[in-house]
Amino acid sequence: MRKQIAAANWKMNCTYRQAEILLSDVLKEKISLEPHHQVIFAVPFPYLIMTNSEVAEEPNYFASAQNCYNKKSGAYTGEVSAEMLESIGVQYCIIGHSERREYFNESNQMLAEKVDLCLEKNITPIFCCGESLSIREAGTQNSFVETQLNESLFHLSAEAMSNIILAYEPIWAIGTGKTATAAQAQEMHAHLRSVIGKKYGNEVAAGVSILYGGSVKANNAAELFASEDVDGGLVGGASLVAEDFISIIKALQ
Ligand code: PGA
Repeated sequence: MRKQIAAANWKMNCTYRQAEILLSDVLKEKISLEPHHQVIFAVPFPYLIMTNSEVAEEPNYFASAQNCYNKKSGAYTGEVSAEMLESIGVQYCIIGHSERREYFNESNQMLAEKVDLCLEKNITPIFCCGESLSIREAGTQNSFVETQLNESLFHLSAEAMSNIILAYEPIWAIGTGKTATAAQAQEMHAHLRSVIGKKYGNEVAAGVSILYGGSVKANNAAELFASEDVDGGLVGGASLVAEDFISIIKALQ
C-alpha cells in the first residue's frame, strides 16, 4: 500500500520559538495514524535538528529540508548540501518547488542534479511539478508536467524512481486560496501515474505517492485526499496553524 502523506511546507516562516510551539501543538494532539500514514515537516534549515529531535520518538513523523544545492560541496557561500542534511539525520528534501523555480531560476537540469545528490545520501526527494495559469488556460498542462518529469527524474533507475515522492502543485493554486477541484487534481495525478507507468511499468507507478499542493485547507483536504490517485498533500499556509494542519493530517485516507 502506498504511503499517504501530509507534508507541511513552512517556507520562510516562524521564529525558532514559534516553530517549537507549532511542532509541539501538532505532536501533542497524538493523532492516531495508520502505518501507511506519514507526516512530514519541511522546516527552514536552522530548525531541522530541533524538528528531528522532536519527532524522533514518533514513528510516522519526519523532518524535511525545503531545498538543497546541486553541488556536492565547496565554495558555494550560503548553500546547503545533501551531504550536510544527511549528516544531521534529515531523510526528506523538497526539490523543485515552484517558488525555487521562479525566484531562483532552478531549471529541470539543475533539479535532476539535486535529485541525484539526495538519492546518493538516502534522502527522499519530494519532487514538485505543476503548471502556471497561462499553461492551464492553453490546455497544455499534461505535456508541461510530463516534460518536468522527463528532464528531472526519468534518468533514474526504476529502483531509484520508487524512492521519489511527487507533489503536483498547480502554480495558480499556490497561496491563492484557489484550489484545484478534486476532479482536476485526480485527472492530473492519474496522468502523472500513467506517465510514470509508461516509463517504469505499472508496479513502480502504483507505488509512487503523489501529493497535491495548492491551497489545501482543513475544509477541503478530505475531499481532495479521497481521490484514488491523490496520496495526501503538500501544505503551505494551512500548515502554519496547528489546528488546521491537525485536521489535514486527520483527513489522510
Ligand atoms: P499553499 O502552499 O498551501 O499555501 O497554497 C503550498 C505549497 O506551496 O507547497
